[in-house]
Amino acid sequence: MSADSAGLIEFDDVAKTYPRGAAETVALRGVRLRVEPGRVFGVIGYSGAGKSTLIRMVNGIERPTSGRVLVDGIDIGGLRGRPLRDAQKRTGMIFQQFNLLETVSVRDNVAMPLRLDGVSRAAARARADEVLEFVGLSDKGDRHAAELSGGQKQRVGIARSLARNPRVLLADEATSALDPTTTAQIIELLRSINREYGTTILVVTHEMDVIKDLADEVAVMADGRVVEQGTVLDTFVRPRTAIARDFVTTVVPQGLPDRVLAHVGGEGLWRLLLVDDEVTQPLVSDLITGIGVSVNMLHADMTEIQEHTVGQMIIKVTGEADRVAAARAFLAERVEHLEDVVR
Ligand SMILES: Nc1ncnc2c1ncn2[C@@H]1O[C@H](COP(=O)(O)OP(=O)(O)OP(=O)(O)O)[C@@H](O)[C@H]1O
Ligand SMILES: [Mg+2]
Repeated sequence: MSADSAGLIEFDDVAKTYPRGAAETVALRGVRLRVEPGRVFGVIGYSGAGKSTLIRMVNGIERPTSGRVLVDGIDIGGLRGRPLRDAQKRTGMIFQQFNLLETVSVRDNVAMPLRLDGVSRAAARARADEVLEFVGLSDKGDRHAAELSGGQKQRVGIARSLARNPRVLLADEATSALDPTTTAQIIELLRSINREYGTTILVVTHEMDVIKDLADEVAVMADGRVVEQGTVLDTFVRPRTAIARDFVTTVVPQGLPDRVLAHVGGEGLWRLLLVDDEVTQPLVSDLITGIGVSVNMLHADMTEIQEHTVGQMIIKVTGEADRVAAARAFLAERVEHLEDVVR
């Protein structure tokens, strides 16, 4: 295994069942996923979809009932004792509730995993100061964790997860307890870890915003299954399942309020999704002056996804029937994603 390829995660037909009295809860059903080294991979799903169960198998906190979870080719579920602890050292994890020792200094929180590995106190503290500097908390080493804000606590959690120089970083709803600005800062920090160290990052969340800003690829989970998987851009532009569409809608609203729909519905009500260069075309003025229709702009927005610009317009085009048809043909030639908005 070369250093470059370290950080590969594979889920090979993974199922997990929890006993519940005489019955049982099925948390995962035949999950197959491959997370390439150095990628940021997001898993999104509603509460109970099986996200935490899935991610906890990567560092052996949970074991599959059947199937295998491999990290760099090693079957994590098959390990016990010392080999398991060694594998866990290569995998850092951060949590929604930070999981810090509140009455211990920030420096000692970060040094703790190294102390457990038998690293000397001085060396562990030196390493802790190094990673605390990376996460922007070099001035907080002597403070108790309890004295920090939520965002600062998560930075400590990240520093602690980095102390052993892991090839894989797992994040379970790591920003769900934070406000939007702090969330953006933590996302930027995670991205810089991925850029700088090439760490594979597996993040599970129920927030599509986090996927949009952080991940390269996304898997959508429902009821213990992966129902859709692809690049983040593709999933935003072409969601294939209803559940993926629901998540995309939380970031890029795809409809109109019912009252507006009732008013303008019917012929000539179109949604245009514009990617990169498509965004800068003077489509509306060309429709009006070139085709000779009226255009009512009902909605427009734009966002950045994986360094691509994604814009959206919902327009109502009116005029003679042949002109409306010509407008549709004109747009279909210039825009890849054009659809009717229906009630
Ligand atoms: N330790 C456990 N014992 C029994 N059942 C469990 C256990 N952990 C999870 N489950 C069950 O497995 C299913 C999946 O739970 P999981 O925590 O993986 O979902 P999740 O997608 O992380 O949800 P959330 O978004 O609420 O964190 C749920 O039905 C849950 O009740
Ligand atoms: Mg969970």
